[in-house]
Amino acid sequence: MEFNTEIFSQFDKKWALLTAGKEENFNTMTISWGGLGTLWGKPVATVYVRTSRYTHDYMDANEYFTISYFPEKYKKILGVLGSKSGREMDKMKDSGLTAIKAGESVSFKEAEVTLVCRKLFRQKLEESNMPEEIAKAMYEGQASHDMYIGEVVEIIRG
Ligand SMILES: Cc1cc2nc3c(=O)[nH]c(=O)nc-3n(C[C@H](O)[C@H](O)[C@H](O)COP(=O)(O)O)c2cc1C
Repeated sequence: MEFNTEIFSQFDKKWALLTAGKEENFNTMTISWGGLGTLWGKPVATVYVRTSRYTHDYMDANEYFTISYFPEKYKKILGVLGSKSGREMDKMKDSGLTAIKAGESVSFKEAEVTLVCRKLFRQKLEESNMPEEIAKAMYEGQASHDMYIGEVVEIIRG
């Protein structure tokens, strides 16, 4: 049997932008944790957002979010969008990316693939339910992560 393991590096190595909100009011940030799979008979994408992120506010306030993948040359920009908060910079002005409508949410002209997701589920990653060494390394003195699972309702290419 052939088993394609490339899917494991889709987030970890390629990174992506997670965007929530609508064209008139949205925020975006870089992610490298996530998964693609099946839940309740639907194709789903799962992302993990620390409660301290500005994007977290938008994830909670909106029904749709997008996951956008970019050509390698945008990695530097993704690095900036993953180290500064939308609370302290104008992410669109400073990145040079062009926001476009994507389904009920927002993506970018420069993205090569965008997954449009409808939020189905949110849950805190409870520290009492994970191995102690992970709880210590990831969450001691730091905000927790919420897991969001979204139905992939559209895949936009190009
Ligand atoms: C490569 C990379 C991957 C990241 N992955 C995640 C992630 O999966 N979840 C998360 O909460 N933050 C992640 N971050 C951190 C956020 O992108 C970063 O804190 C960002 O500034 C948040 O922006 P905001 O406050 O405008 O939402 C990552 C950062 C980088 C550089």
